[in-house]
Amino acid sequence: MIETIDKHRRDFDSRIRSTSAHESLAQLRIDFLGKKGCVQTLMKELRQVAPDEKRQRGKLINDFKRYVENQIKDKQAGLGKSAAAKSPASSNATFDATLPGKREIPGTLHPITQVTEEIKSIFMGLGFQVEEGPEIETDYYNFAALNIPKDHPARDMQDTFYVDGDAVLRTHTSPVQIHVMENSAPPLRIIAPGKVYRRDSDVSHTPMFHQIEGLMVDENVSFSHLKGVMKIFLQEIFGADTQVRFRPSFFPFTCPSAEVDIQCVICGGRGCRVCSQTGWVEILGAGMVNPAVFKLVNYDAEKWTGLAFGLGIERIAMLKYGINDIRLFFENDLRFLKQF
Ligand code: DAH
Repeated sequence: MIETIDKHRRDFDSRIRSTSAHESLAQLRIDFLGKKGCVQTLMKELRQVAPDEKRQRGKLINDFKRYVENQIKDKQAGLGKSAAAKSPASSNATFDATLPGKREIPGTLHPITQVTEEIKSIFMGLGFQVEEGPEIETDYYNFAALNIPKDHPARDMQDTFYVDGDAVLRTHTSPVQIHVMENSAPPLRIIAPGKVYRRDSDVSHTPMFHQIEGLMVDENVSFSHLKGVMKIFLQEIFGADTQVRFRPSFFPFTCPSAEVDIQCVICGGRGCRVCSQTGWVEILGAGMVNPAVFKLVNYDAEKWTGLAFGLGIERIAMLKYGINDIRLFFENDLRFLKQF
């Protein structure tokens, strides 16, 4: 009997020594302490033993059982500790100071916002105030008050989204001119940045884009002021040697009206795809405020004259950064946005 227990103990000792995982420890417990384990077998054998020997043998079996239990308990505690040691949070021993830290990636302003801010600051330097107007306008503010009556062909260029009855998504920032003039007396100098909407979609048009409107009303404002303001602005944005030219054009709310071009910033005027081989790119529309518009806002057209202009922010950003597809601005692709 003693020999059998000794053999079991040696067997147990060797197995527990080589145990390094919780599963094999559980198996060891089944093999030694389980219902069909060797301690139970020894107990069963005890039944056949003569009563006077029973006590002594029973004690030996119990000692062995306790020994097995204690060993398993100790081993279990040891395994728990070494598992914890492997997790870096609980121990500095495995802290690897050479691992790169978690870096915060700060966001940046969207390129359209950046260009808007730059334009705003140029005009603020020239004494212009920043105004805002609603993106949903009535037909009156978007068209009629700007001298574009219902059946006027100029409406064709600005097909828009009709919201409900008389309400439209504004097709340009020009209606802000009307709101400002209705609410304040001249003289004034304002710019109005914001979103505008048109039924267009291709590499150079998106159904939503951004414009900045400008309006200056005072006594004796002339076309030379318009030329001067536009030249200062464009040379600030595109560089001091940027060539600027005015071409006659038509807008119902200005008279005379002009399209303003800059020498192509991509090819330097030699001719390329961006400027359709002309060396010039159209950058904005401008003109002298039509007296018909002044009349609608009750400004005295004999006393006041004004200059106005409107530009597309995406167009300026595209030329400034050499971007060839306007849709990139609105896809939210970080590989694009991170470059600004
Ligand atoms: N609103 C015009 C457009 O979106 C741009 C424009 C042209 C605005 C001439 C003006 C202007 O203020 O004077 O096409």
